[in-house]
Amino acid sequence: MKKGKIVSGMRPTGKMHLGHLHGALLNWKNLQEEYQCFYFIADWHALTSEYAHPDIIRESMYDIIIDWISIGLDPEVSTFFIQSEIKEHAELYLLFSMITPLSWLERNPTYKEQLRELSQKDIYTYGFLGYPVLQAADILMYKANGVPVGEDQAPHVELTREIARRFNHLYGEVFPVPDVLLTPTSKLLGIDRRKMSKSYGNAIFLTDTDKEIDAKVGEMITDPQRARKTDPGDPDICNLFSYHEIYTDDETIENIRSGCRSAQIGCVECKRMMASTLKTGLEPIRAKRKDLEADIDRVKEIMEEGNRKSRTIARKTMEEVRDAVKI
Ligand code: TRP
Ligand code: SF4
Repeated sequence: MKKGKIVSGMRPTGKMHLGHLHGALLNWKNLQEEYQCFYFIADWHALTSEYAHPDIIRESMYDIIIDWISIGLDPEVSTFFIQSEIKEHAELYLLFSMITPLSWLERNPTYKEQLRELSQKDIYTYGFLGYPVLQAADILMYKANGVPVGEDQAPHVELTREIARRFNHLYGEVFPVPDVLLTPTSKLLGIDRRKMSKSYGNAIFLTDTDKEIDAKVGEMITDPQRARKTDPGDPDICNLFSYHEIYTDDETIENIRSGCRSAQIGCVECKRMMASTLKTGLEPIRAKRKDLEADIDRVKEIMEEGNRKSRTIARKTMEEVRDAVKI
């Protein structure tokens, strides 16, 4: 018997990279055992920032779904769907918008931060302010008990909890109040030691070729104090070493640790080893991706099946909601 339901989504705004893999997807994969999981493509959410160039949404959607399956999210176990295919989300979003005080949205720290960070995009829109209200509809539609998200998304889930409470208070108990299931932040930084992100140009993508991986690993910043091979290094402050900790076997890791400290091993060699274990580690994911790319109809069927299942639940929830609101 599973512990409860969880819902989580991803905005299709580009290809998946190692930051997504270690920061979210592997956690989603593990949760499949314990929970009934709903994982979805948040294409309407993507539109809040990409409305002027929506092509990226269509383009990246299937790439992302293929990545999900390739890393081990199992459509036989979890339900996948596409947000815009379940129109009920729009209706619930509208009803929630009636009961959500503006002040809750305006004080949201993620909102304020995004306005600052995405200053090159015009996101002073009604839709962008209402982003967490739509997110609440996504979550509460399936009566989720938990929402696995990174720290940046925790305020949104907090708002979902408040909206659920307010709805229940006004109209009667319809929604469980879901818990935040905080995903530990990934230790893997981008090749320039900043947070891995497509927009920083520092990401290693799940779809990168061997050549691309070699080139990116070659560029990686290591221990910045270690200028020459004869200088001893410190693996604990080396960005590359944290990749070894994930992809390389324990014995080799120990050799690298001592070899680096005693200047027996140079960064060039260390990079070569890391690129090699990284490629080996990604190989099963790539093999699965290749199979799926050759059978894209199967992937579409998976999504249609998931959309159908989700829609059935959404319709049922909306019946309860309309009864409660008496409209
Ligand atoms: N806002 C989330 C993100 O950018 C995506 C998302 C949309 C989501 N709806 C959700 C996550 C519901 C969890 C639950 O990562
Ligand atoms: Fe980092 Fe490896 Fe160079 Fe040490 S030898 S500083 S662990 S890249």
